[in-house]
Amino acid sequence: MSTPDEDAHNREEAQNHGAAVGLRGDKITIRGGIPLVGRIELKGAKNLVTKAMVAALLGESPSVLKDVPNISDVRIVRGLLEVHGVKVTDGDEPGDLILDPVDVESAHFADIDAHAGSSRIPILFCGPLLHRLGEAFIPDLGGCRIGDRPIDYHLEVLRTFGAVVEKLPNGIRMSAPNGLHGAKVELPYPSVGATEQVLLTAVRADGITELKGAAIEPEIMDLINILQKMGAIITVDTDRVIRIEGVERLEGYQHRALFDRNEAASWAAAALATDGDIFVGGARQAEMITFLNVFRKVGGAFDIHDDGIRFYHPGGDLKPVIIETDVHPGFMTDWQQPLVIALTRAHGVSIVHETVYEQRFGFVDALIEMGATIQIHKECLGGHPCRFGQRNFNHSAVITGPTKLHGADIEVPDLRGGFSHLIAALTAEGTSTVSNVGIISRGYENFITKLQLLGADFDLEG
Ligand code: EPZ
Repeated sequence: MSTPDEDAHNREEAQNHGAAVGLRGDKITIRGGIPLVGRIELKGAKNLVTKAMVAALLGESPSVLKDVPNISDVRIVRGLLEVHGVKVTDGDEPGDLILDPVDVESAHFADIDAHAGSSRIPILFCGPLLHRLGEAFIPDLGGCRIGDRPIDYHLEVLRTFGAVVEKLPNGIRMSAPNGLHGAKVELPYPSVGATEQVLLTAVRADGITELKGAAIEPEIMDLINILQKMGAIITVDTDRVIRIEGVERLEGYQHRALFDRNEAASWAAAALATDGDIFVGGARQAEMITFLNVFRKVGGAFDIHDDGIRFYHPGGDLKPVIIETDVHPGFMTDWQQPLVIALTRAHGVSIVHETVYEQRFGFVDALIEMGATIQIHKECLGGHPCRFGQRNFNHSAVITGPTKLHGADIEVPDLRGGFSHLIAALTAEGTSTVSNVGIISRGYENFITKLQLLGADFDLEG
């Protein structure tokens, strides 16, 4: 029998060696019905790390970011930084990234265009590139297809700072002939990306910026931590108001990224749906309070430890819930998709009212094919009217349980929907083939190795 130290070592080895596995196979055959049991380790949050990498562009000296996950979104941002002359190297510890922006330069159009359609992060390069080079070219964006995902707030914000925006057939060109100046900005909706756009632009703009209606997700607070380490002056008020005093110079930072609470919630949902017991190393309570409340109401149990959170099914029937997704501190939109699988097992009728994205229920078609009883409605069913209520969007789901899922051939539609499909296949009776699983590598580091560690029964194809 191995010691706990050996176990920990084996886990780390397996996770590091499996880094590429999740990217090779694009199809996975899962034999369901086995509870996921064991321990996995989280690294930094995808939705912070990618922005922190962009922030490094603003420094006059190198930055060191720790706990960077090996996911494809990170590789995309790394590539885009490199074509702009940033030297990106791996540090001594696994997950350390050194970003040296000293020789930042304009990139060749073709090199930027090669990143078209791959991610939403390039839009956040605008402010830092305008400060550093006076111009920026942004390719057509990608990201999950979970709604229209416009960038109007971003462009409006940049114009307010003084940027000149020129739309081209294959992207956007920006310049700042008179520099960038602090501004009063009020967002129509607390957009995460637009708030980050303001932060990354205002920290080096001339004068004071006041942002009203800001998003205050923990990942944004951690970006503010990073910017403060770099020399920025940022005040966060209680009422979604952020004030930024522009400074002339920022230096590089050293920072350990906030853990990935979306990944933590995903594995928690997997533990509950499979009758399993997963210790999620690195997960913390403070950033997950809203999720933990809902997890408990559904019938899940958790134990908070210094080094992570244990999520498990304590036995007994799962209970239905009403969830309305919202900006922080509400229930995150990224948490609903994985949790829906557990709700198909709950005794009664659950409602999920999605108020952040207008089309985030594409993933349920496959679940219905697997035997789930789910109806999608255009009305706001959670109790509170949202922006999508009068606009003909299918944004409320009614899940009636308990139903038993059976194996099927299904195709991953987007990142979180994809993880939810994995959970469905792991829960289902019989064999399922899940294709297009490469998308899941955008946000889940070594998920194949983690599934192995947790005892899942599957084969990779492709
Ligand atoms: C971030 O997306 C995350 N992505 C998303 O995670 C997350 O779901 C979302 O924030 C909400 O928490 C990254 O951090 C890379 P938004 P972002 O701007 O910044 C509308 C995942 O699976 N909007 O807060 O793009 C928009 O259409 C992903 O990890 C405009 O109308 O989200 C949406 O309805 C998916 N105009 C709402 O605001 C704009 O210019 C919130 O979007 C910008 C946004």
